[in-house]
Formats: sequence, structure tokens, C-alpha cells
Amino acid sequence: MNASTTTTILISTIVLILCAKTARCCGGYELEVDYIRNCGSDNIVELSDKFSVDMKPNCEIYVNGCYTAHANITSAMVEFTGQKDLVKLSGKRDGCKVLDDVKSSSEIQMALEILGLPKSCPVNKGKACLGIKPINVSKYKSLMNVFAGHLKGKSVTTTNAGKFCIEFSAKLVNVLIKAIGHGVIG
Ligand SMILES: *[C@@H]1O[C@H](CO)[C@@H](O)[C@H](O)[C@H]1NC(C)=O
Ligand SMILES: *[C@@H]1O[C@H](CO)[C@@H](O)[C@H](O)[C@H]1NC(C)=O
Repeated sequence: MNASTTTTILISTIVLILCAKTARCCGGYELEVDYIRNCGSDNIVELSDKFSVDMKPNCEIYVNGCYTAHANITSAMVEFTGQKDLVKLSGKRDGCKVLDDVKSSSEIQMALEILGLPKSCPVNKGKACLGIKPINVSKYKSLMNVFAGHLKGKSVTTTNAGKFCIEFSAKLVNVLIKAIGHGVIG
């Protein structure tokens, strides 16, 4: 066995042990959600207080929580700003049109279906809960390093019936680097 193979096996073993400890780890990465919450006031669509996202060791993502639409939503212009570490992005999209545009992607349709999110406009007034089934992200294991870092975002959506604001902050952390960091920094 050559040195690089030994190193690979050693690192893989450490990652597995660290993953087993956190129980929220996929492909050596752990998802830490700081918050997903409403911002501002008088939101026409509101997330429930306990809104959570968990990534399990088998690379399944569980979204738990409910949202309440206080009116029938027939149009939704989404303005968003996002940041991954120092890289920023922002934009404006017609939410209803985006839902129409992704109709041809069976993968996105399935994700919307699993999450219990609306697949088209209008979104009817009332309460709906997410998280009946998990989403399997095993396929994206090898891309985790691309998404790794501190992710933050905020969206303000203007609908026919009023506005709503949602913000989130999360970290996708390499467990090995985290452990080394803790070891060195304390
Ligand atoms: C909302 O939409 C539903 C279904 O289309 C309709 O039955 C209901 O009357 C609408 N409610 C309001 C307040 O417009
Ligand atoms: C998740 O998907 C992968 C392939 O993408 C598959 O091998 C694995 O069995 C799935 N996990 C579950 C729990 O369904």
C-alpha cells in the first residue's frame, strides 16, 4: 500500500468517525443552519417559528415546518440577495414564471412534490406543512466542496396581496477542517 492510499484511508476513517459523532454529515460535510425565518412585519406569507432543515448521515435532507398564506397568491415577484462567504449575488425573478419554467425538470418537480411546496400559481390561502418525506442529496456528495462555506440569503417577495420577507443563514462545513480548527484554536 503506498503512502497516498494510506493517507486517504486514514483521512476517510477520521471523517467517518467525525460524521458518526455529529450525525448530520454527508460526504464529510455537515450542515449547520443558524436560522430560516421571517423578516420584517405584516408578511402575507409566514413561516412557522420552528422551521428547520437537517441533513442526515445518509445524505437525506429533512425540512420541517409550516407556512401560512394569508391570502390567495396569484403573482409573486421575488427580489433576493445571497452571499456565500465573500461572493454575493442578487436578482429579481417572477416566482410564478419560475415555477412554470421548471415544469420540464422532473427532478425539481419531484423535490417540490416531496417538500409539499406549490408547483404553480395560484397558491391558495391557508396553512401547509413541509417535511413529510426527506430529499436524497447523495448524488451531490461530490459537489459539497463547491457549496461549502457560510451561506446567507434574504428574499422580499411582492405579491398581489402584499409582501413577505424570508432570510436564512447556514454553514456547510467540512468536518475534518472543523475538527482541525477546534484542535488548533481550542
Ligand atoms: C381563494 O381561492 C380559492 C380556490 O381558487 C377560492 O375558493 C377562494 O374563494 C379564494 N379566496 C379568496 C379570499 O379569494
Ligand atoms: C439516495 O440516492 C442514492 C443514489 O443517488 C442511492 O444509492 C441511495 O440508496 C439513496 N438513499 C436512500 C436512503 O434512498
